[in-house]
Amino acid sequence: MFQKLKKHWNVTGKQLVLILCTFAVTGTLTAWLSKKAAEWLVLDKYGAAWWLSKVLVLIFGYQVIILVVGFIFGMFPFFWKYEKKILKRMRLLKDTKPVLPAAEPVDTARRIAIFASGTGSNAQKIIDHFRENSFVKVVLVVCNNPHAGVLNIAAREGIPVLLIEKKKFNETGYVKEIKKTGADLLILAGFLWKVPPVLIRNFPHHIINIHPALLPGFGGKGMYGNAVHTAVIKAGKKESGITIHYVDEEYDHGAVIFQATCAVDKEDTPESLAEKVHALEHHYFPLKIEEIIKAGG
Ligand code: GRF
Repeated sequence: MFQKLKKHWNVTGKQLVLILCTFAVTGTLTAWLSKKAAEWLVLDKYGAAWWLSKVLVLIFGYQVIILVVGFIFGMFPFFWKYEKKILKRMRLLKDTKPVLPAAEPVDTARRIAIFASGTGSNAQKIIDHFRENSFVKVVLVVCNNPHAGVLNIAAREGIPVLLIEKKKFNETGYVKEIKKTGADLLILAGFLWKVPPVLIRNFPHHIINIHPALLPGFGGKGMYGNAVHTAVIKAGKKESGITIHYVDEEYDHGAVIFQATCAVDKEDTPESLAEKVHALEHHYFPLKIEEIIKAGG
């Protein structure tokens, strides 16, 4: 039994003896005091007042006496803890346990930045695709053109914009600014500048571009917008399409991730071909980004 009590109260053998002595002395002293109190107050034996004084001493006197006796036996901290428990149960003492603020939900979403300098229809599709997705968040739009349509999209969507300037981009890649947002996957969706080595070094295998033709054909410097589709039609190609690829230090050159094709008809103009290609981009780009992320890319 003593072992059990020692364990229950988490005390040593000596402390257990002192605790038991405190209880014994307190019990005796309280019984004696309850009798004496009635006498000192000259109350009618067994009358209502007599009983009341006894009960009050037994209930409340006991709580005070145990602290005094516990103090004498060097066990005040133990009995104060014990008293606090009783007072809390009687709701005479408030629970002072610190109330910790509710834990903030941990934001583990994968953060992506979209680089775009034009209309931003692809950017819009990507934003739409991940809008309800709690695992992927578009946290930044990087743009080099202060008049680009994509800036209106970013404003409407409440996505911060990083307006970049060529010299600084080539020198620093705005690495610090991008990393600050937590973005670690950079999506080029209609971004026309060459990506500087410093940015590629800082996001190895984490920069993806979409090109509106089937690479390795019809890529390279100056191959963007209608120039690409004009070249495809001029070359008499029966097929065009899209290429999603990793970015390396050359224009439209990194490892291909995905391609999709569309027919080039006799009557196609650069504009009509652009429409077909755009439809492929809008359909596949968000899906492929999701696949890459799911695959740990
Ligand atoms: C797309 O055709 C893309 O392939 C190319 O730039 C174009 C951007 O179009 N890199 P948008 O601004 O997304 O409408």
